[in-house]
Amino acid sequence: MKKDILTINELSPEDISDILNLSAELKGKQKAGKPECPLIGKTLGMIFEKPSTRTRVSFEVGIYQLGGQAVVLPVSELQIGRGEPIADTARVLSRYIDGMVIRTFDHQTVEEWAQYTSIPVINGLTDLHHPCQALADAFTIMERKGQIRRLKLAYIGDGNNVAHSLIEICAKTGMNISLACPKGYEPDKGIVEQAMKDAKRMGSRIEIIKEPLEAARYADALYTDVWASMGQEKEHKKRVKAFKGYQINKKLLNIAKPEVLIMHCLPAHRGEEIAGDVMEGKNSVIFDQAENRLHTQKAVMVRLIK
Ligand code: CP
Ligand code: NVA
Repeated sequence: MKKDILTINELSPEDISDILNLSAELKGKQKAGKPECPLIGKTLGMIFEKPSTRTRVSFEVGIYQLGGQAVVLPVSELQIGRGEPIADTARVLSRYIDGMVIRTFDHQTVEEWAQYTSIPVINGLTDLHHPCQALADAFTIMERKGQIRRLKLAYIGDGNNVAHSLIEICAKTGMNISLACPKGYEPDKGIVEQAMKDAKRMGSRIEIIKEPLEAARYADALYTDVWASMGQEKEHKKRVKAFKGYQINKKLLNIAKPEVLIMHCLPAHRGEEIAGDVMEGKNSVIFDQAENRLHTQKAVMVRLIK
């Protein structure tokens, strides 16, 4: 049966650890100049309804490195733009291509694609989830700290798509997560409730609080994301007010553990959710996270498409 990755929640702890191990193997081989090409002859379809630098380029380069090829499918140039249903398009594309990555707004849209395709669908970000980002983040923590379990991740800011996938991956890998969010910007209750059950099984803790300093205390990793996500541009001014004080800066860095990792999925707004000096400082692993999108997504493609 085909497997999709629409959320982290549908992966088991074993799936996640397998993807992270394979990521390390593929990264090592690529760096040693001995890349593997298990996807020769395979084609990845790419639909991006929102802008993207990292996700789009890392998937496209990733499939090339694995021996396959990408076909970029702008919705405006497909018949979908003229009203052909996803249900029909999905079945047609399944006859040509071997997997798809989709970035869109409504999470239900990727569910609809997954329902009608007979090929794996990978969520490249929706308003609700960003599973590929969370896999790269967990891999980055693993690389730097040698473990994930029992560490503490502090997420400061908006309870958004990135936060949701981080909550889910922490719950599945046994990492503690403390989120400091302003009132009205907390993560989705249903996602948190489900994750709390998983976290209990793995012996880890999820807490949603208001106070950034409290979340950051003794943290092994400090993570943030933009205050206004794609599609929320009109709310930017209102959000700048609401998120005042929810910035990763020296004050937060100093209350965390000395070797704390500074993390951000990018793109970043310096001076808003993160101070420029902390972003460029020695604790920052932000550009490793971006690089690791490539390695972890290659692992995902090998497992799903091969
Ligand atoms: N972090 C991330 O998904 O970046 P892009 O929007 O550039 O793909
Ligand atoms: N929360 C951000 C993540 C960008 C990678 C957004 O959805 O715009």
